[in-house]
Amino acid sequence: MKVVSEISELKKIIQEWKQQKETLGFCPTMGTLHAGHMDLVHHSKKQCTKTIVSIFINPTQFNDPKDFEAYPNNTEADLKLCEENGVDLVFLPSVGVMYPKTETPIQMSIPSLQKTLCGRTRPGHFEGVLQIVSKLFHLTEADYGFFGLKDYQQFRVISSLVDELNFPMKIVGVPTKREDDGLAMSSRNLRLSKKDRETATLIPRMFQLAKKTLLGGEKNITVWKEILSDFLLTGTNIKIDYLEVVHPITLQPITELKGNVLLATAVFVGEVRLIDNEIFVCPE
Ligand code: PAF
Repeated sequence: MKVVSEISELKKIIQEWKQQKETLGFCPTMGTLHAGHMDLVHHSKKQCTKTIVSIFINPTQFNDPKDFEAYPNNTEADLKLCEENGVDLVFLPSVGVMYPKTETPIQMSIPSLQKTLCGRTRPGHFEGVLQIVSKLFHLTEADYGFFGLKDYQQFRVISSLVDELNFPMKIVGVPTKREDDGLAMSSRNLRLSKKDRETATLIPRMFQLAKKTLLGGEKNITVWKEILSDFLLTGTNIKIDYLEVVHPITLQPITELKGNVLLATAVFVGEVRLIDNEIFVCPE
């Protein structure tokens, strides 16, 4: 496995691979890697001949500088996991490499997709994500980019970027990898206390209840959301950031339980913010 930190080193390898007609798969990450990230790698390895992982804690996507400072850094363990899972190249740039001081900052946004869900409580977050993935897509010249569907809004924002600006690549959404009890894998799960980790299982159970209620004939969005939020809140320390039902492509709120709908939530369990979502096909 090759590990590089400089753009010139990365470009040299990419050029060679392009000449050899390799198909390049790319999994951008912010490190503290787990089985969910490795699932992206496995999807890439099935579809592509070379798999690149970037590990870069991107400062421009943190709306709270304290969050950025506190973000865990586990490079040694991350590299080991990448090696064990057959990654071909890890790009590990510093902040100075990705954002040289001479840079004139560019702000990118896709307002209609960013104003809802996580975008409402994390101002500037998706602008930062768009900026960094654009840079990384150009540098890696990837044919395919792999993104977890747990971050569904991020997946939609990046898919839209690639479509609208004709990036010569395809974005692949990889189904959420879950723990045995259904909790979506996330590096944030490690920050939960034992009790809060138990409480967090209410999130996947809430999605099961959502399905059951829908199949039971519930047609009213407001009632559906009330049933689900009561389930999360009653007798727990959960705080709901949002629990929304939106169109899976436009991410705009919908008023009818009809066709495909995305149920998405962000909740605080204690201090830890967790997100999850599921697309439901509403019964006729
Ligand atoms: O999902 C993440 O880890 C980050 O938002 C990403 C896509 C690596 C950009 O920094």
